[in-house]
Amino acid sequence: MGKNYETVEKKFSGNIVLIGFMGTGKSSIARKMSKLFGLEIIEMDETIEEREGISITEMFGRYGEEYFRNLETDMLIEMQSMDNVIVSCGGGTPLRQCNVDEMKKIGTVVLLSATPDTILSRVERSHNRPLLENNKTTEFISEMLGKRRDKYQAAADIIIETDGKSKFEICKEINERLASI
Ligand code: S3P
Repeated sequence: MGKNYETVEKKFSGNIVLIGFMGTGKSSIARKMSKLFGLEIIEMDETIEEREGISITEMFGRYGEEYFRNLETDMLIEMQSMDNVIVSCGGGTPLRQCNVDEMKKIGTVVLLSATPDTILSRVERSHNRPLLENNKTTEFISEMLGKRRDKYQAAADIIIETDGKSKFEICKEINERLASI
């Protein structure tokens, strides 16, 4: 059952591209944004898995990370003509500058951020992230986040901190921030 009483007036137009480290809530916020504002969701990881017919973990193991990264770039190029969508990127998508250039052409880039502790609590029980498998500690996440932070921030038009907030609160904040740019 969805929370149907949660409604909010849409104050933005155009597409949204959600970026952020693993476990910052991109997929769940994309679903909530889709419900609240009638946007079509494009889940990059899921679409790539469906097309390739294997999981990302298998893809990394069989063909290597670079293979997966090239598929991400191809997908962003394909999405250029889409309308009324919210794109949920993979956590590593903004690490390539060419991907950031493509994202900017698609829509407004929204970075979701969270502390390493929050991220750990959100990814702890999942096993579909090859880069975190066997590395689920605050220290590892903190170090990886540190290496990526500048690129995430440089790619973002808007940064939203997610710690301790409900999905609805985060979506309302995105709506307000988009209205004022
Ligand atoms: C990755 C994040 C994952 C997925 C892949 C690599 C990364 O997406 O694309 O495992 O490099 O941060 P999520 O952020 O949706 O977990």
